Amino acid sequence: MSVDDLLPSRQTLSRYAGHSREKFTRRDFMKWGAASAAALSIGSTTGMADNAVPVYSIPCDGPNCLRAHGAARNLPVGSAVVIQQIQRDAKFRDLLQNQASILVSDWQMKWNVLRPAPNQFFFADADWLVNYALSHGQLMRGHNLCWHQALPNWFAGYANRSNARHLLSQHITTVVSRYAGKIHSWDVVNEAIDVERGNANGLRDTPWLELAGSDYIDFAFRTARAADPHALLTYNDNNVEAENQGSKRDAVLNLVGGMKKRGVPIDAVGIQSHLSAKGEYGAEIVRFIRDLRALGLQVFITEMDVDDSGVQGTFAQRDALVAAIYFKFLDLVLPEPNVTALLTWEERDKDSWLENRICPDGSRPRPLPFDGNYQAKPAFLSMRNAIDRCPRKSA
Ligand code: XIL
Repeated sequence: MSVDDLLPSRQTLSRYAGHSREKFTRRDFMKWGAASAAALSIGSTTGMADNAVPVYSIPCDGPNCLRAHGAARNLPVGSAVVIQQIQRDAKFRDLLQNQASILVSDWQMKWNVLRPAPNQFFFADADWLVNYALSHGQLMRGHNLCWHQALPNWFAGYANRSNARHLLSQHITTVVSRYAGKIHSWDVVNEAIDVERGNANGLRDTPWLELAGSDYIDFAFRTARAADPHALLTYNDNNVEAENQGSKRDAVLNLVGGMKKRGVPIDAVGIQSHLSAKGEYGAEIVRFIRDLRALGLQVFITEMDVDDSGVQGTFAQRDALVAAIYFKFLDLVLPEPNVTALLTWEERDKDSWLENRICPDGSRPRPLPFDGNYQAKPAFLSMRNAIDRCPRKSA
């Protein structure tokens, strides 16, 4: 059996992708989803060579766009962006205007951009983006206030046990109060759990844990709440999505459950959703989201993409696999009432942070709903189909 036997035929693919969405049914997607695992296991032996860029001709603007379909379900939908993409490219502006009702800064609100020197802030790019989003009727997420990565070069030689807590609170207070009232949600702490190399409670060894004290997460959230009482305060993390990532899910539940018990102001958990084309997604992520709901927490899908860099196949086949994973995952999570926002990590493959990974055939991954030519891919249809199938979110 070849990959072709396991995936929808080319005709079927172009029929789904190219015409009205009525033809694009759940059954078709289930077939894709079931086929994907098997296709992957034999993919490495088949040596596909056809890397023609597929032409899908999927209508994706006006009433066909993700933003409109999200609005019909009261679900903000959008992506990470970089301001130069918006400033330099009218076509990209159109795309973003059509697809996104919520934006997040890919890297321009991280410490290494906002903090050129210990006593200096650089706000021009972040200001521009927040103003852009609000003036285009888009919500704005803030990403992020406390992370072990993207720290400025000066940090390691400057931060110590006596100043780190002050550095953290000064940063959070300055940044959060600057945008108070304008931000839908802040990723207050990002990726603080590491079950493999972390401590007994699962906390990752980070400069913040080492220098700012073992309660630095509580401290960061309390400081953020004081600076903006309206932004939804989020703990954001990855590697909790797949069936076999239970220990990380448990550690996150333990962390946020403890915060709730201690009265720490936390409103949401961000599930980054950097998925793998080889990953298995199922009942466990739903159980996790329900456990978070029982704690009174919302869930945002904050950074979705599907990494197909380990997959061998034509672009069309890889796109079908990626689309199958998008649909499988979103059709699991979006119906949960506490899942209240959906963002991908960028819109177009060429802007993906996975762009530097190399596929077996030397090509680049195709992890996002749009390709480099602004063309909507089957993953776009997966997103829209899953959005359409979820019940309307309550306000
Ligand atoms: C990534 C950016 O997209 C890259 O440009 C940067 O070099 C590294 O960080 N999880 C996160 C995001 O929370 O901040 C990361 O963004 C991707 C993984």
